[in-house]
This record gives sequence, structure tokens and C-alpha cells, in this order.
Amino acid sequence: MNELTEELKEIIQSAQPALKEKVAQDKWRLGFHQQPPTGWLNDPNGVCQVDGVYHLYYQYSPIQPEKGLVYWGHKTSTDLVNFEDQEIFLYPDQPFDCHGVYSGTTFYKDGIYHIFYTGNVKHEGDHDYDFSGREQNTIHLTSKDGFTIESREAVISYNDYPEGFSQHIRDPKIIEKNGHFYMLLGGRTIENKGAVLVYESQDLAKWSYKGLMLDEREDMGYMWECPDFFTLNGEDIFLFSPQGLEQQKYELANIYQSGYFIGEMEWDSITFTPTHSFVELDRGFDFYAPQTFEDESGRRILWGWMGLPDIEYENPTVQYGWQHAMTMPRELMIENGKLKQKPLPEYQTLRKEEYTFEGEINGKFRDEELKGEVYELLINKEDSTASLTVNLRQDTALTFDGGVLTLKHGTSGYGRAERSIELKSIEQLHIFSDTSSLEVFVNDGEYVMTTRVYPEEGENKIVILGNEVLKIQKWNL
Ligand code: FRU
Repeated sequence: MNELTEELKEIIQSAQPALKEKVAQDKWRLGFHQQPPTGWLNDPNGVCQVDGVYHLYYQYSPIQPEKGLVYWGHKTSTDLVNFEDQEIFLYPDQPFDCHGVYSGTTFYKDGIYHIFYTGNVKHEGDHDYDFSGREQNTIHLTSKDGFTIESREAVISYNDYPEGFSQHIRDPKIIEKNGHFYMLLGGRTIENKGAVLVYESQDLAKWSYKGLMLDEREDMGYMWECPDFFTLNGEDIFLFSPQGLEQQKYELANIYQSGYFIGEMEWDSITFTPTHSFVELDRGFDFYAPQTFEDESGRRILWGWMGLPDIEYENPTVQYGWQHAMTMPRELMIENGKLKQKPLPEYQTLRKEEYTFEGEINGKFRDEELKGEVYELLINKEDSTASLTVNLRQDTALTFDGGVLTLKHGTSGYGRAERSIELKSIEQLHIFSDTSSLEVFVNDGEYVMTTRVYPEEGENKIVILGNEVLKIQKWNL
């Protein structure tokens, strides 16, 4: 706590009550998703579970719904479903982070939360802030309880990074392997290529640069944000958020991407060799900067930001003083060599009022009882290649036809039009609908499509078009 912390606290305290009133008026506040109390939210940060408590820190601009100075907001939970808002965890109040405490991760060891994050500083003057005028310092913070900060220190200063990089180097992730600590940092080279820098340490305090984790790649964009690495069922997975990829038919359709390579990590040479091509994690409109952690039961859980930076469409919640939310947390699993994403079973505790239908539909299926705004909808198809359309949330349609699944919005998409996936068959659609969001899990987590959507109140009909035998289950949440 210093003078700047006091000043920032006062600014927030005087502006937040009016914003809270606005937020309370908003019909699009989410039911079972994590959202900022006021203002702006972006990446999940430092996600972890310690002594039964899940910590979700996040990029947070408490009084600027269109992003301003970023802090680390903080929420905790004991079940990953119900969360409590905590005090702001981290203020941008040090000379090495005073223009934003950027993204980072928690490495918990021997009773200490070691949190590594990026301290952003912008110098005054005529700068482009890509190649001059910016500091992105790597900071090591320690805490004994995840709430109170014990120490905070710049362990790699912006002018200690190796030659050949722009001033964008950030988002540390720590991995412990064979008695060594490694740090991954996302970056942009001076030739505008995305890259991951690897540092090594014996004590988490002194770090030495070891090289790039992957060879530079021609076709993988100009900047890689939020690197992550883990091993699941023997498969090494490198996950990151590249910027600057070109759209390929239905793939890579958003402004920036998040995805992964499955491959092989050689820790001796610190080289990752992809064995498969890049796969996008989510095929909807609103998904970016995910990070993963292993919880105390050994599950690999992924959390994403249900939003994107630099988008063209507007989010109507801004006029109510807030913007963006997190996706539901998802469990990652390897099945038949493929990475799948599944909703957590914990969310079944929210199920109320079950609706079930099992039988043949002929053309149009409409049932007075089949409706809702905040619900889980599970559709199992008997004929996995048959065409099917699910109309929901005012003017959103999910259509499977001719080997393409399309998510299409009307006016309630506020500028979002359509996203598609080519796939041969659909056995199952598992849809989580909240007041202003949809997450569609396809074929038990083979694909996911996440989108924000802003229907008017009372627009709650679900209509299904097709000719086949379906099992439909729906629960209000
Ligand atoms: C990703 C990102 C990170 C950065 C943070 C700043 O959305 O750009 O690279 O640390 O957001 O808020």
C-alpha cells in the first residue's frame, strides 16, 4: 500500500456506487457466469485451487466498461459454480506496473502462492508502443493466503529481454520439470512473428533465458499471447492465443484466436515439436485468452474470457456500466488422441424443472413447455447425419445441414452474424443458455461454440426443425 494505491482506491470508491446502480438495472446480467461487479473484465488470471478454495483472478477495469487501467479482480469459490466477489487483489501502483497489472498465472508451492504477471508501463512521448515507449516487466509476487500480498519484485526487467523482440513480451506461465522451474512468455519479434520465450530458474527469483519454445513459424501470426503448457494422458499440449492468423474458410474467423498444438516437449533442449496442426479451442464469436490449471482432484480445467479485444460489434451492456464475462469453466480430456472440452458436472447442481421428450419429430417440433432463457438443453440425435435446426433466444439458429453446423444470429447478436464448423455427423448438442450468452458443446466436447447474445425479455421459445428421432432434455438453471 502506498500513496498511489490510496489514490486509486479513492477514485474507484467515488465512481463505483453510481455504476453499481446502472449495473443493477441491466436485464442482461448473467445468471451462472462470472462477470465484473462493474466496469470491464478480460482474461482469467492466476486460476488455481488451494485447500479446497478456487481462486479466479481476472483483468479488471472497475470503473471503465470500455477498458482503462487494469487491476486484478478476484473471485473465490468452493464448488466452481457459486462465487464470491473479493476485494481487488492487485493494484497497478508500482513503478514497474503503474499502467496496468497485466495477465499472469499462479504457481503454488510449499504453502506459497507464487504469482507471476506482467507489469505494463508506458513512457510519455512520441512512441508507437510496439517497438518503443513500453515496458513489460515480469513480476514475481508472493502471498501466503491468496488474498494478501507479501512481496512483489520485478524478476525480468523490460530491458533484459533478448535482442530481436518488440516491446510486447508478457503473460508468464510457470512449469516445474525435473527439478527446474521454467517460465513461458508470449511475445512478438521485431519481424512481427509470434513467439514463446523460455526462461529457467532454480529458485523462482533469478531467471535465465534459454531460447524459443518453438521455431518461428511463417503462418502463425505476429503476436502470441497467454502461453500455457500441460501434459494430459501422456500428450503434451501447448496452448496460446495468436494474433494475426488468416481466416481459412470457416476456421480462424474471429479477429484473434485461441488454440493449441498437440506435440512433443523435449525439456533438455526446451523444444516443443507439434505433431498435429493448430486447432482452435472455440468456434463461436466470443472466446479469448484462456488459461488452464490442475485442480486438487487432478482435473485439467480451462477458463476463457467470453469476449475478445478490438471487436467491431458493440455489447449493449456498456450503457449499463459493465462489459464481458468468463466462459463456464470446462474440463479438458484426451479421448482417442483428441482434446475434448466438457462442461463440469458441478453445474448439474443448478438443474431445476426437468423437461423431457423422446420420439420422432416430423418437420416442426414445438411444445408450449419447451422454452426458457437460462437453461441447459441436451439433444441426442438418433440419426447423426440428419439435418436439424434449433431455433432459440429470439432469432438465433443452430443448423446442421450438408456437413456444416452453423450458428446464426439475427438482431439479438448485435453485429454477430454467423460462424460455422465442417463436421460429418452430430450425435449430441449440449447447450448452456444464460440471459446473454450461449455455449454449445457438440458431440460431447469435440467442438464448442461460445457467443454473447442480447435477446429481448420474454423471447424464450425453443423450436426444433427436422425429421428424426430425438431425445430432448431441458433444465432451467
Ligand atoms: C490478452 C491480453 C494479454 C495482456 C492482457 C492485458 O487479452 O492482451 O496479453 O496481458 O490482455 O489486459
